[in-house]
Amino acid sequence: MKRLALLTAFFVLSASTLFAQDLGTEAQRAEGKVVYDQKCAHCHGYNGDAESVATAYLRPTPRDFTSGNYKFRSTASGELPTTEDIKRSIRDGMPYTSMPAWQGILSESDITNLTYYIKSFDQMFNGPYGSPEAITINSQAYDESRLARGREVFEANQCADCHGENGRGNGESAAELMDDWGYPIRPADMTKRWTFRASATREDIYRTFTTGLNGTPMPSYQQTIEEDDRWALVDYVWSLSRDEPDYGTVVTAQGASGAIDISQGPALFENVPGTYFPIVGQLIEPGRAFYPGVNGVEVKAIYNQDDIAFLLTWNDMTAETSGSNGLTMEAPLFDPSMADSAAADTAGTYSDAVALLLPAETMAGVEKPYFMFGDSKNPMDIWYTDLATDNAGVFVGRGISNIQETEQTLERYANYDDGVWTVIFKRKRPMDGGLSFDEGTFVPITFSVWDGFNHERGNKRGLSAWYHVYLSPLETQSAAGPMLKWGLITLLVELALIGFIRWRNKKEAVAA
Ligand code: HEC
Ligand code: HEC
Repeated sequence: MKRLALLTAFFVLSASTLFAQDLGTEAQRAEGKVVYDQKCAHCHGYNGDAESVATAYLRPTPRDFTSGNYKFRSTASGELPTTEDIKRSIRDGMPYTSMPAWQGILSESDITNLTYYIKSFDQMFNGPYGSPEAITINSQAYDESRLARGREVFEANQCADCHGENGRGNGESAAELMDDWGYPIRPADMTKRWTFRASATREDIYRTFTTGLNGTPMPSYQQTIEEDDRWALVDYVWSLSRDEPDYGTVVTAQGASGAIDISQGPALFENVPGTYFPIVGQLIEPGRAFYPGVNGVEVKAIYNQDDIAFLLTWNDMTAETSGSNGLTMEAPLFDPSMADSAAADTAGTYSDAVALLLPAETMAGVEKPYFMFGDSKNPMDIWYTDLATDNAGVFVGRGISNIQETEQTLERYANYDDGVWTVIFKRKRPMDGGLSFDEGTFVPITFSVWDGFNHERGNKRGLSAWYHVYLSPLETQSAAGPMLKWGLITLLVELALIGFIRWRNKKEAVAA
């Protein structure tokens, strides 16, 4: 009898240590529910199953907490996350998705209570696998000498199939990838590590491909890559991206030497510094783009007495050069074509497009036009090109319902290569009657990008805030100019002086 009791006690004990779940107390989960219903349910659903109004509009969709799939996990492939993993996601949020960072908004005890409440949506946390261990990560320092090895590991493991030859998220199978909930998902752009969902330290990169991202097609490489090779791969992936870009507010247009022949392409802009601008979804007006396909554009500008040219480059998973696009093309508030994942992302319907927007007339002071397609008081010049065509044109916008093409000529160069669109616009400076691009002045400017693959068209587009283009005066372009000028003046003065002295000497000689 005593033995039986002991045995039972042993089993109960070992079971509870074996299944040492960390589920919090009844009171903690109840408090978690109060915060959850207030702050999280409208996205993640009251039952944690992502059945919410928001889900239709968001990509990626809010996590379904009943599915056992977590992207951010320090645990082995296929396992649940640790309590600390979930807390970290709540604290830090997920960059470039609608998942906010709650640190500073919610208290640490709210975050703990929420974590316990979220776990209650999935019975798996109750079971024998409910409390998995984090893998150990023994960091190795960045070592440039193993980048070549890292590249070999990248190739051998077919990272490029999804992430692209140079990591721009444009691999061969990129366009077809679906997540576990049947929605299209894009491979990360490794040249922009600040956009990674689950943080982007070297240890995070190691963790991501070692444990995989559950719920996504991104596999786990725990079994396939040796420890040292993993760090070589981390170094290689790390080397593909700069640190978070220094977002600028001004494009400085530089003086060009000679005529601007845009058929030369980006080489024309070789030594001109670029400025990087974030692109976000147009959410203010109908056509709202909740998940724009493009998240940034780099801009350079050059000019001479006659012309001004802008170079725009941005990363895009695919070049959509069939189908069509247009500034006034209708886009419904909610795009039914994107709701049905089978029909979603069909290539060939809408093409990629880009526009640069400026006030149609020189504006007084620091005033800026209304930032959509202009308004009746503040008309806007829209330099626009549909990349399925060879043409570009200047439109005048007085609001979305009043956009008209003008007769003005706009030259265009366009090229797509390995995940990068390069577009150059060129037109006359100053423009007849309209905006004058005066030297030494700041002109308001904004950019719009349409990702045809993402069904963006018309007012459903990615856009930047208002910035400025500054025309740095032509004379000060090179130090040689002013030096030559002063040199010449000095020379003339000297010659004049010498001449004067000779003339005087001669006169004196004659007089003598
Ligand atoms: C505006 C919508 C929105 C709100 C509000 C929101 N989330 Fe999220 N959340 C998301 C989206 C979208 C994702 C998925 C991101 C992804 O898959 O890359 C996500 C993912 C998560 C994840 C998953 C992390 C992982 O490893 O996969 C957790 C945990 C989470 N949210 C918790 C919360 C909590 C707790 C709250 C409330 C305090 C909250 N979220 C509020 C949209 C939201
Ligand atoms: C089958 C396609 C596929 C393959 C192969 C693949 N990945 Fe991914 N990877 C993805 C997808 C899709 C995402 C984006 C997940 C998301 O947005 O949540 C991703 C995301 C990532 C991220 C960013 C994680 C984050 O926090 O956002 C890294 C780093 C990464 N992959 C590295 C690699 C490496 C290294 C390899 C090769 C060893 C590789 N991937 C192979 C599909 C793939």
